[in-house]
Amino acid sequence: MRHWIAAWFTLALIVCGPLQARAQQAPLGGWVFEPTDKFPQFTKMVVQRQGGQLSGVITSQWYGDLPMLTLRVDHDRLIFTISNGNPRLTPHDLTAQIVGTHLVLTGHLWDDDINATAHPATPSELAVLSFPTYPLPPPRAVPDNGLARTPPMGWNSWNKFGQEIDDKTVRQIADALVTTGLRDAGYVYVNIDDGWQGARDAHGVLQPNAKFPDMKALADYVHARGLKLGIYSSPGPKSCAGLPGTYGHVEQDARTWAAWGIDYLKYDLCSGEAFYHTSETVQAVYQQMGEALQATGRPILYSLCEYGRFDVGSWGRRVGGNLWRTTGDISDDYTRMSEIGFMQFNLAPYAAPGHWNDPDMLEVGNGGMTHDEYITHMSLWVILAAPLLAGNDLSKMTDDTKSILMNKEAIAVDQDKLGKQGYRVSAAGATEIWEKPLNDGSKAVGLFNRGESASSVTLDLKSVGFGSGAKLHDIWAGKDVMASGGSYSVTVPMHGAVLLKVSK
Ligand code: GLA
Repeated sequence: MRHWIAAWFTLALIVCGPLQARAQQAPLGGWVFEPTDKFPQFTKMVVQRQGGQLSGVITSQWYGDLPMLTLRVDHDRLIFTISNGNPRLTPHDLTAQIVGTHLVLTGHLWDDDINATAHPATPSELAVLSFPTYPLPPPRAVPDNGLARTPPMGWNSWNKFGQEIDDKTVRQIADALVTTGLRDAGYVYVNIDDGWQGARDAHGVLQPNAKFPDMKALADYVHARGLKLGIYSSPGPKSCAGLPGTYGHVEQDARTWAAWGIDYLKYDLCSGEAFYHTSETVQAVYQQMGEALQATGRPILYSLCEYGRFDVGSWGRRVGGNLWRTTGDISDDYTRMSEIGFMQFNLAPYAAPGHWNDPDMLEVGNGGMTHDEYITHMSLWVILAAPLLAGNDLSKMTDDTKSILMNKEAIAVDQDKLGKQGYRVSAAGATEIWEKPLNDGSKAVGLFNRGESASSVTLDLKSVGFGSGAKLHDIWAGKDVMASGGSYSVTVPMHGAVLLKVSK
């Protein structure tokens, strides 16, 4: 009997011993996460202690290999943070702990709860999951592609439709651009944003998803209407919506788009921020796509979207960019729109024919702002020589929306061939005066009221380089107005704007 007890005891030690020991230890070594679609799709984690120094790397399908930062052991738990290169990511603790035979990782990343399970890894499992890195080109100046002599105009799917975009909607929008007269007013690009990407085939060729059965046919449809088709991608493994980016397929994807007949690419950093988080690497990866687009031989307008990091205006044109986002995302509310718009006051030196600052797409007509707020939006954007990419459902536009998007004189300010971006002349309390020099020697002048009630704004003509004999035309009112004694006073509604054309 005693022998039996001793034998059972020994067996229990053999079977449970390592687990028992492991359960009391922090989870060092290699771990492989169960396959998951959950952001950020962790695949493996390797933690080691060398010379008393703890270090580790955690790998995800979004961000590749990330060092485990502020790594420490607390009893049987490993606690660490990660940085994906985005300065706005709050570094919350992630906690790894052995539960039974598995490792459980919990915590928080952006707005997502993390709850991932891993098993102890074999070396061959880790090898299979190693994350590839690819070389970047040395700095070179990409030649001007000759496109976008005036700021691009058209439509983009994101602000209204988000990922709910499909072939049918894009065709409806193309039709609406024609029937509403928007195309003839200059809005020619039909840009599909995030949400079209499917999977790569056996040769690595990226396919659209089921919502876009035939991209070439869609491009033909759009072209037949005198319009151009734009597409969206990211230099990282994942787009911002988690769909495949160009990582490892830059030239191949550029060729695919050219073969479809694509005319415009918006290239959005997204998960690429984890791989390219220095000025040099971000420039290199945008240059790589700039060169790849030109190597296709098809004229493809190139839009950089890296949220204005690393003073993008100072190098955007060198990497082949025709426009570059200068901020994070706009939203359909006055606070965010005006914050972005009025923030652009010192970017004028970077804009010129072929190369534009991009304060993000229009929200006019999406319903989140008042008429006066949308007038401010459009007035600011045309003074900024911003790309005019409508972001609303063009098949269901009110007359008010049409009148804002299609005002010929406002569009002419934006599209003026001198290609000078406007800038702030003065700010006093809640009112601001901006000007934009125009090709014929006149100026567009914006009088803005950022305050919470209507306010009288006085323009001293001298402050914008004109004398008392200047001619004034109110663009939104569609009529000439009179200055008196060298100045012009007008009541500007709360959050509203008056847009003048001032000439000799
Ligand atoms: C980022 C961009 C947006 C839009 C979305 C799509 O947030 O800044 O303009 O393209 O990604 O996921």
